[in-house]
Amino acid sequence: MPSVDELPRAVRHQDATVFLLDQRRLPGEVVIEAYTDAMSVERAIREMRVRGAPAIGMAAAWALVVELERSAEQDPQRVRRHIEQLAGHLRAARPTAVNLAWAVDRMLVRLARAPAERDALIAHLADEAQRIEDEDRAICRAIGEHGLTLLRPDCGVLTHCNAGALAVSERGTALAPLYAAGERGLPVRIFAAETRPVLQGARLTAWELGQAGLDVTLICDNMAAALMAEGAIDLVLMGTDRVTANGDVVNKIGTLGVAILAHHFGIPFYVACPSSTFDAATARGVEVEIEERDATEVTHVGGVAIAPSGVKVRNPAFDVTPADLVTGIITEHGIARAPLGINLRQLLSAA
Ligand code: MRU
Repeated sequence: MPSVDELPRAVRHQDATVFLLDQRRLPGEVVIEAYTDAMSVERAIREMRVRGAPAIGMAAAWALVVELERSAEQDPQRVRRHIEQLAGHLRAARPTAVNLAWAVDRMLVRLARAPAERDALIAHLADEAQRIEDEDRAICRAIGEHGLTLLRPDCGVLTHCNAGALAVSERGTALAPLYAAGERGLPVRIFAAETRPVLQGARLTAWELGQAGLDVTLICDNMAAALMAEGAIDLVLMGTDRVTANGDVVNKIGTLGVAILAHHFGIPFYVACPSSTFDAATARGVEVEIEERDATEVTHVGGVAIAPSGVKVRNPAFDVTPADLVTGIITEHGIARAPLGINLRQLLSAA
């Protein structure tokens, strides 16, 4: 039986090198690229060779370590300034996922406290990056266990984008309960929405669930309403890039539409994320910067033009689902339900 634990890792650090699984090339090719400087990793994040909120945070953290490991600079002042500058670039590579800024900021706090001597400094930063990765692994497993309580035998679960193993250290957030179900022999019918324009649902979610031997059915984004109407969907499970203080959920474009549909059909709509995705400093979803990506993602599919050249295009990569459309948020500490803002804060501060 194939296992989720045999999937290639999205991010890995070894021998002063960051290894990234090139997610632009999936599902056709499994290619792992080696990165030896921070700005190449920054480009890979912008180009979405590595993507998914926790994964880009881990990639950025390891990028800073590799930069230090490869540098010959000995002057402590210059080393620190260089790392701080790179941290600024990495932090800004994608603006919406709070986990990226969160991971980079953790590295900067550690940098500020680390000894000046070069080897000790590297050891401190490597330790912090490893902690971020190890914590993520434990968090995904805990989310899997909490989310599993929502699943019933033969239930139909709709997911969108990719909040699976490819987006984190392993197992995923929204997909973690589905992997846990598979391991316990609980049958679940999973529906993956393709997720235009970048097709993370078709290229990544359908691929990784299939590799792990789970029952996955691919649908186009515009089929969700029809499937809900015919009773095929019992539950929606989504990831998120940021949850604001009031419980609004910022996630992949198309999430809001699915949430509205789920509300219309009375289907529970759950979001899974690590507590680091909770942005208590931002009051509401409308305040979050939504990344607007290149028009070619909309006008082309697989390098082939599907629209008239020069057509006007909008390409917001994320949308905001208001808290009142969200049934609950599954974190590593348990599930918070309405009123989300208050209950999520209580759950996290109790932990
Ligand atoms: O643009 P992407 O592919 O990085 O977007 C990813 C998502 O929207 C995921 O749902 C989110 O990051 C959660 S990943 C555990």
